[in-house]
Amino acid sequence: MRQGEIIRSRRLKGDYHQVDFYAPDICSSARPGQFVHVRVAQLEAHILRRPFSINDVDPASGAVTVTYKVVGAGTAALAGLAPGVVCDVMGPQGNSYTLPEAGETPVMIAGGYGAAAMFLIAKRAANPGILLLGARSAADLILVEEYRKLGCDVRVATNDGSEGRRGLVTALLEDVLKTPETARRRFYACGPTPMLLAAGKMLLAAGRGDAELSLDQRMCCGVGACFACVVKVRDGAAWRYSRSCAEGPVYPASEVYYGD
Ligand code: FES
Repeated sequence: MRQGEIIRSRRLKGDYHQVDFYAPDICSSARPGQFVHVRVAQLEAHILRRPFSINDVDPASGAVTVTYKVVGAGTAALAGLAPGVVCDVMGPQGNSYTLPEAGETPVMIAGGYGAAAMFLIAKRAANPGILLLGARSAADLILVEEYRKLGCDVRVATNDGSEGRRGLVTALLEDVLKTPETARRRFYACGPTPMLLAAGKMLLAAGRGDAELSLDQRMCCGVGACFACVVKVRDGAAWRYSRSCAEGPVYPASEVYYGD
């Protein structure tokens, strides 16, 4: 089997897909929150690589799993590739989430397919913890059963109320932050930027500037050379640009720039 070869490809639900690449080196070194940068095979018209969070790894088979939503030509092309096709898979890229220490419970705050990027936290932590999962509707909730199989306490909010609590995932976070166990918890987030900023502000207000947020951006080179992926981070009383592919994508809530 060749590096980057597709081992398995399947539709999870709706526009959400999952693909396993054969990439034993990435598999053995990947940490939670890192990503792979993939040049999709048979897509000459779109030579740019695309970043995908690492959802899972299986050292026994050398498989690296990514879970994604079809949103454009690149992801549609990837979804159409069959096992046996070889892609150019680079990684693992970026920094990573810090795993909880002994006695700490991870609380993962996810918007949509942000759940994929935090799966390895739940898998590797001594206590799989709590997943707060928000989405527009039940059709956008993914990986719920996979988290439950790890023993995770999965709490759901949907904008339209089609599953779980009606409203935003930050309402679930508000409830968690009210409980006395907050000090023994470690917080992580991944999802759309408005959700991340709202969650980050709440965590800061609760004294949890150590919460870790993954600020995924559009990327080009993926290795810190082009500045396509910059995000604003705090720099004293001001702010500066940070290349999220190299310095991130994970930043402490205390370093994120929330605006003036
Ligand atoms: Fe080029 Fe980050 S994608 S610097």
